Amino acid sequence: MAVSKDCLRFFASFIEAEIGIVYTEVNYYQLEGRLEDIAKHLGLKDPIELWEKARNQGITGTLKHLLIDIATNNETSFFRDSNVFHAIRAIVQKAMPTNAPDRPFKIWSAACSTGQEIYSLAMVLSEMKDLGYFYYTLLATDISERVLKRAQDGCYSELEVSRGLTQAQMSRFFKNEKPTVATDDPHLTWCVRPELKAGMSFMKMNLLEPFRGLDRYHLILCRNVLIYQTVENKKKVLQKLYDHLLPGGYLILGGAESLIGLFDALEYVNIEGSVVYMKKDQRAESTPA
Ligand SMILES: C[S@@+](CC[C@H](N)C(=O)[O-])C[C@H]1O[C@@H](n2cnc3c(N)ncnc32)[C@H](O)[C@@H]1O
Repeated sequence: MAVSKDCLRFFASFIEAEIGIVYTEVNYYQLEGRLEDIAKHLGLKDPIELWEKARNQGITGTLKHLLIDIATNNETSFFRDSNVFHAIRAIVQKAMPTNAPDRPFKIWSAACSTGQEIYSLAMVLSEMKDLGYFYYTLLATDISERVLKRAQDGCYSELEVSRGLTQAQMSRFFKNEKPTVATDDPHLTWCVRPELKAGMSFMKMNLLEPFRGLDRYHLILCRNVLIYQTVENKKKVLQKLYDHLLPGGYLILGGAESLIGLFDALEYVNIEGSVVYMKKDQRAESTPA
């Protein structure tokens, strides 16, 4: 049976309200293909039956996870936009003198996808730790449970590790053997060594919802996710990210993303050729009495 526009509109509205990603009529054909996959996965005949189920039983549980999953783009790689990691090294170096066990450097990878970003950060910090003690915590969040589970597992295919890692990093930080976690994919044979997960935590989080239970961070990476959001959503998320930055802390966006015309409370800084945004440290600016 042909899938009606009403059916597609119904699912598109749910996706937009839930995660802010907009399907317009131009890309309804994509949505239709993806709904067909979900219907098949749930043992239903077609998107029409899926629509009936959603209207009768509501969109919860597995159906909700599957819809969020099909709507998100999870493209990522190790050391994506490698210049950014030169900037991060410089930021960390600057923080070293004030670093202490009770004042760890706190980093949040918001929208971490399958984890390559958070492990790239952990590799940078581990390599820098060779220079002396450095205390840090790493938080990785994403809205998709599927990618978050993969991030937490930390197991990658040959193709994934070949995108961005050097041989030296592969042998130092990964084991190449049978997956150390339960997975259906036999190709995920490169698993991060447990030491790389030190100080790391994972949490499911929708950037469009209130940031409950979150700390304030020295560095937040929110890369290649706001690009898919409306201007209004971008502004709301940026305000919340700002609130969760420590004074003097940094926000890094994706290479094609910018704050221009969206948010002016953060200061533009060029570090090692990369654009990063800094929250002004009012305390540093105020003159002592
Ligand atoms: C293209 S990936 C970017 C991954 C990584 N930050 C990078 O730049 O390589 C975008 C990620 O954003 C997540 N995402 C999309 N909408 C989100 C939302 N509203 N809240 C949290 N995460 C979201 C997706 O699940 C996806 O894993």
